[in-house]
Amino acid sequence: MKSRFAPAAGVLAAALLLPGCFQSFNGPRPIVTEGALTDVLYGPARRLVGRSCADCHAKNGNNETHGDAWGHAIRLDSYQDWIDGRRVLLERLDTVTAAEQDPPVAAMPSAGFRYPLSDSERDTLLQWIRRGSPNTESGFAEGL
Ligand code: HEC
Repeated sequence: MKSRFAPAAGVLAAALLLPGCFQSFNGPRPIVTEGALTDVLYGPARRLVGRSCADCHAKNGNNETHGDAWGHAIRLDSYQDWIDGRRVLLERLDTVTAAEQDPPVAAMPSAGFRYPLSDSERDTLLQWIRRGSPNTESGFAEGL
């Protein structure tokens, strides 16, 4: 009895599981453009993280349930998440630093993601972190 039904059960399980497993980063669903760093005043950070990170690191992201992404990956919903992630963000946003880790880590966004960061966009985020990520519209500490 068991052996007669097992193959059918296997096919059914595969049919149910496969679409989830192969859910692509480049799927047809629209990019998430909000939901990341919603309380950040510095527009470039909100825009770049919304475009290139939110899909996998913010609530409502298309890849929020991606097997690898949760459990050990950083959240980027709020300014506090960004501040708490300073050390790993510095590692992952600089491609050279990422490659220099032992063992090397993947620069972000992950390879193949359809909205990568240009060098100058990476620099915009890195410089902001290096300035201490002031939460102001200009991205610079006010009153200096
Ligand atoms: C396509 C999905 C995807 C996108 C887009 C993406 N990430 Fe990731 N990220 C992951 C996954 C999966 C991991 C966990 C695997 C790993 O450590 O490499 C991760 C890990 C990280 C980590 C390491 C967290 C830790 O605790 O060590 C940081 C930091 C990070 N991402 C930042 C970013 C930033 C910043 C962006 C946008 C510039 C971004 N990611 C875009 C999927 C993504």
